[in-house]
Amino acid sequence: MTQLLLTDISKLYRISTQGEAFKKGTDMADAAMLESAYVYIVDDTIKAVGSMATLQPRAYRGAERIDCKGKLVLPGFVDSHTHLVFPKTREQEFVYRLKGMSYEEIARKGGGILNSAKSLAHISEEQLLEETIERAKEIMGFGTTTVEIKSGYGLTVESELKLLRVANALKEHVPLNIKTTFLGAHAIPANYKNDRQQYIDLVCDVMLPQVVDQNLAEFIDVFCDEGFFTVEETEYIIKKGAKYGLGAKIHANELAFSGGVQVGVKCNAISVDHLERSGPDEIEALVGSTTVPTLLPSVAYFLGIDYGPAREMMEAGLPVTLATDYNPGSSPGGSMPFVMSLACTHMNMLPEEALCASTLNGAWALRMSEKVGSIEPGKQADLVVTQPLDSFARIPYSYASNLIDRVMIKGEWV
Ligand code: NIG
Ligand code: FE
Repeated sequence: MTQLLLTDISKLYRISTQGEAFKKGTDMADAAMLESAYVYIVDDTIKAVGSMATLQPRAYRGAERIDCKGKLVLPGFVDSHTHLVFPKTREQEFVYRLKGMSYEEIARKGGGILNSAKSLAHISEEQLLEETIERAKEIMGFGTTTVEIKSGYGLTVESELKLLRVANALKEHVPLNIKTTFLGAHAIPANYKNDRQQYIDLVCDVMLPQVVDQNLAEFIDVFCDEGFFTVEETEYIIKKGAKYGLGAKIHANELAFSGGVQVGVKCNAISVDHLERSGPDEIEALVGSTTVPTLLPSVAYFLGIDYGPAREMMEAGLPVTLATDYNPGSSPGGSMPFVMSLACTHMNMLPEEALCASTLNGAWALRMSEKVGSIEPGKQADLVVTQPLDSFARIPYSYASNLIDRVMIKGEWV
């Protein structure tokens, strides 16, 4: 039995104290912060949390003490939307965009997702895993302790399975908590351009059963947007996934008011993600539903498009969630602190709201709130210890500094 006692934590951001699965709207601003606090951990689990004034040293006699004087302790960040397994960076397309081409134009000319799919066919599973391990280590350094990983750069039976195998194999090499999502419907490959349904059948009737059989994914995703999959196609694919028990997470409303949000709500999707193109109709559809809005501000930053209406969503009482969308096309970075900074500077979120959106609400968007996302007894010991800082606001404020001191996953320092 390993016992750890983190003492004299200057500010402990618990996020929740009553086992709430998520927080919505203005409740997100209350980070349940405790000053001068301790956290007691046994093996991989948080056993007790409290204020130093009430600490009974005798109760923790056998524990290794870790002095956190002046430091903040936060829940590990939950990045609930990434494409962490990808073959190659695409800086050439970045330069094309700087010269005036749009993301959509590049995609229509065979760039974008199809470009990544071409590279994926030529990279070995071993090399793909090696490169993904490096990326995973990088994001743990940014404080991410739980990550969702999508397929979607394969677009053939063999390559989609390869991608998901790598995402699952990653679990053996890094301590991150990993959830996987099947995104065979990420784009229509060029050879199916004139028979879209044939590709959709391949996704639903060939890929999906194998993904399920081999236990490679828990969720299903569709890129429901202009130039990609229609609302009808999305519903068809999501329903096929539901037959196998896969929850839905949809790429919606990034490029156009696509109806993606509405179809997500109609199909009881766990989350609809992106939402850069959302207005009152999309917010109205989400209110009263169980579907989580996940915003990806680094996509808006990198593509130079509108930011999603986080503030309006919060005013409407929605459980806004934040994620990086780490991928080679629209968000080639996996820093949750940077995402939280963008949420504050460009989406009008308060630092504590951004923190809740990046921890507890992210956990809910992965159906993992029982285990991660807050610092409460009974939860897994996934923590971020910062440098000595006055408050959490310093993290989104000092957007280019890495102020993280140590990261713990399942009770072990990474
Ligand atoms: O989430 N929008 C769709 N898919 C990815 C980007 C795909 C790419 O450009 O490689 C995203 O932004
Ligand atoms: Fe994405």
